[in-house]
Amino acid sequence: MIFQTEIVKWYLNNKRDLPWRGTTDAYVIWLSEIILQQTRVEQGLPYFNRFLENYPTITAFAAASETQILKLWQGLGYYSRGRNMLYTARQIQEIYDGKFPTKYDDLIRLKGIGDYTAAAISSFSSNEMKPVLDGNVFRVLSRYFGIDTPINSTSGKKQFIELAQKLIVGQEPSVYNQAIMEFGALQCKPKSPSCQSCPVQSDCFASKNELVNVLPVKEKK
Ligand code: ADE
Repeated sequence: MIFQTEIVKWYLNNKRDLPWRGTTDAYVIWLSEIILQQTRVEQGLPYFNRFLENYPTITAFAAASETQILKLWQGLGYYSRGRNMLYTARQIQEIYDGKFPTKYDDLIRLKGIGDYTAAAISSFSSNEMKPVLDGNVFRVLSRYFGIDTPINSTSGKKQFIELAQKLIVGQEPSVYNQAIMEFGALQCKPKSPSCQSCPVQSDCFASKNELVNVLPVKEKK
């Protein structure tokens, strides 16, 4: 069984219909990814729609005042996200003349865009071969491949990045990245994952060794 093929197949049959999927507009993807950073999809959805309605382009967003942005942000929490977004939007308006960058190496230089967000935007908008690593992906890889190195340790991160980079080769990056995140969110859940209906259960290290509730390992800091 090829892990990636099964995950993509599962995704095509089980994915949620979400408004930021199926767009390659880097601005729209950025908006969704920042909103979803510390927020569940159901909670973030109405905010995403309101922001896009009020500010359909990065140029419109960059022209907003901080008061306007924070007002729309009300109820989402972590208000620094909203403030940082305005800073990033103005930076992009200035440096890139309102054309939102789509390349990982350009994105990673911007304020408030870290490794995860740069990988998400570049892969979803221009199919760049950068694997996304969020909590969902760490969990899926740790369980399936039986990696017990703490996901928040330096050596753990390195190990997971190396594995993720190998797995994405030969895949359609935008689809594969969405697929593995969605698989973690809906199937390989943190608590009571749906192992009985899992398409990769027969080759899953954690399932075979009764370690589903042990992996992934997180180090207390
Ligand atoms: N959480 C973070 N990014 C997401 C995405 N693109 N789709 C669904 N859930 C997400």
